[in-house]
Amino acid sequence: MTNIVPVELGERSYEVRIGPGLIDRAGAEIAPLLRRKRVAVVTDETVAGLHLARLTVALEAEGIAVAALALPPGEATKGWPQLARTAEWLLEQKVERRDVVVAFGGGVIGDLVGFAAAVLRRGVRFVQVPTTLLAQVDSSVGGKTGINTAQGKNLVGAFHQPSLVLADTGALDTLAARDFLSGYGEVVKYGLLGDAGFFDWLEGAGPALAAGDAAARLRAVTRSVEMKAGIVARDETEEGERALLNLGHTFCHALEKATGYSDRLLHGEGVAIGCALAFELSSRLGLCSQEDPSRVRAHLRAMGMKVDMSDIPGDLPGAEALLALMAQDKKVIDGRLRFILARGIGQAFVAEDVPGDRVLRLLTDARR
Ligand code: GLY
Repeated sequence: MTNIVPVELGERSYEVRIGPGLIDRAGAEIAPLLRRKRVAVVTDETVAGLHLARLTVALEAEGIAVAALALPPGEATKGWPQLARTAEWLLEQKVERRDVVVAFGGGVIGDLVGFAAAVLRRGVRFVQVPTTLLAQVDSSVGGKTGINTAQGKNLVGAFHQPSLVLADTGALDTLAARDFLSGYGEVVKYGLLGDAGFFDWLEGAGPALAAGDAAARLRAVTRSVEMKAGIVARDETEEGERALLNLGHTFCHALEKATGYSDRLLHGEGVAIGCALAFELSSRLGLCSQEDPSRVRAHLRAMGMKVDMSDIPGDLPGAEALLALMAQDKKVIDGRLRFILARGIGQAFVAEDVPGDRVLRLLTDARR
């Protein structure tokens, strides 16, 4: 079964197709986009080992010639050197403006290859084939592309919407449990930010989802993508509502910086801890009930996820140093602390003027 979620952006509209087996049908799915029967696929070595042969067979079965480049796996790939390598490889493959580039992998590959496609010959079309849960529910949809620099994450990039997204939920079966749960942090985020009924459902279905229930996975990815597609269609360039997708992210970014973007904390783990902190802060500010943060934490705990800062191995900086890391976050406008807070589960909003001392107190307590 394939679910189709449209992303309505006028002449840049596209579909996110979600379901098991899409990699094996990629040739038939992508062929209608092609003006000549060839594609350049950029992936990483891990995904290449697991899935590239299947993708190539599927494309070639439709008479599509495939050139493929496999980059090293990991966040370090998302920088200038591999961007240059990718762009020059695409030029060597004689990719032209009418061609299509395929980004095949997780968030690092999607962001890097999307950005390469955005700048190559001033913009070529690209197809996202996300293989991780995080990429399927978040980074492959919505057109944010970019790389990290010495100054920070995602500071160089472009909005460049894909022409199609193929989210093969069967690919999630090859993810390590920790990577799956990290992506699940983003799934929970959608319930928390805008769909209390979805969060209710996740509380019941979460364990089956983690254990590999294909129908539950399809439903969770589809609902997440529906929510993201709706938000992106209403606010493509993050002038307003799209900022809600950053629920938990200001805390997360500070914790990621504090842990050196290392294996100590995966992005989705930081999002989960950040969501718990955002609800705690909301409750302390009298915005939501005290039960809400407890419920968020209980679900994350039941899923075996990191919930508290103390779940992060190794030492963390003190509360003041963490607050300073938050103030560097690019979402802080004119020095004011901007957070995504909530009036309840499924009711997130942008709070522009959060008092720094309340955040400091929260962090001090959370560090205990
Ligand atoms: N990942 C947040 C966004 O796409 O806006």
